[in-house]
Amino acid sequence: MTAKVFISRRLSIEPEGVLGPHSYRINSLDRPLRPRELIDELQGCRGLLSMLTDPIDEELLSHCPDLEIVAQHAVGTDNIDLAACRERSIHVTHTPGVLTDATADLTLALILGLSRRLVEGDRLVRRGGFQGWSPTLLVGRELQGRVLGIIGYGRIGRAVAQRARAFGLKVLFHTRSPVLDPPDEAVGLDELLERSDILSLHCPLTEVTRGLIDGDALARLRPGALVINTARGPIIDEAALAQALERGHLGGAGLDVYAREPEVHPALIHRDDVVLLPHLGSADQATRRQMAEMCLGDLRRVLEGELPRYSLRVPMP
Ligand code: DGY
Repeated sequence: MTAKVFISRRLSIEPEGVLGPHSYRINSLDRPLRPRELIDELQGCRGLLSMLTDPIDEELLSHCPDLEIVAQHAVGTDNIDLAACRERSIHVTHTPGVLTDATADLTLALILGLSRRLVEGDRLVRRGGFQGWSPTLLVGRELQGRVLGIIGYGRIGRAVAQRARAFGLKVLFHTRSPVLDPPDEAVGLDELLERSDILSLHCPLTEVTRGLIDGDALARLRPGALVINTARGPIIDEAALAQALERGHLGGAGLDVYAREPEVHPALIHRDDVVLLPHLGSADQATRRQMAEMCLGDLRRVLEGELPRYSLRVPMP
């Protein structure tokens, strides 16, 4: 019998606990499926539990006529053609809220790690280079009194701001949405860039934000500024970032996401002033469990004729 649901990667929980009686199949390979493989797996399925690495586009949808719901195991949905789903009345759900703290924690880890040169220190000790305490060894930068500029002041941006204030950072933010009584200072994009010692991105990837942090934007940052990206890789022009680091204009970069994931720009990979993570923003145990539960819960609701709870778009009748 054809499974009703296809789950595109192994999850951190057993699906049947939430899916109940509904049949499912899982991609048992330890890699994302190629588009053709995913289409083959989806034949006859009414639901897909997708990852941000699965392009859900016109091509796929046109070959999967039974699909009623795409439940995305992420808050970002830039891999999904939402208009094409809407046209076919396919529900699209995601996992808002549950990964806010995990992503904000990781952002602070990158800010602290870069400022205090944690990764450089770790490498030095492991290669036997630690000769004992020295007043000039790997001296980093203090956070107290510095300015953090946040682009995107949604759940994650605000959670980062809250943590940053506790470290004595002054927080500026730029967003296109209205914010009532924010505890931080709202500024225009140019002003944010010009005043920031640390720039951190927390906006979604859209046609407006793609390439937003280009060579001009980076040149506006204060000399020695740090650039942190835990949002989506294509928001930054990576070649321009590498050039700004090479010129010595920036002090470093902390990246969890990449323009052509999982590839890392070759000019970034060997730099000591760059900390590179493998897209770990939501990777803590409780968060990953909740993400899986939300997706599976919505799949089950739709299979049982109910509306999903974490819908991005109400399908057209
Ligand atoms: C998201 O949810 O968009 C994250 O990038 C996945 O960890």
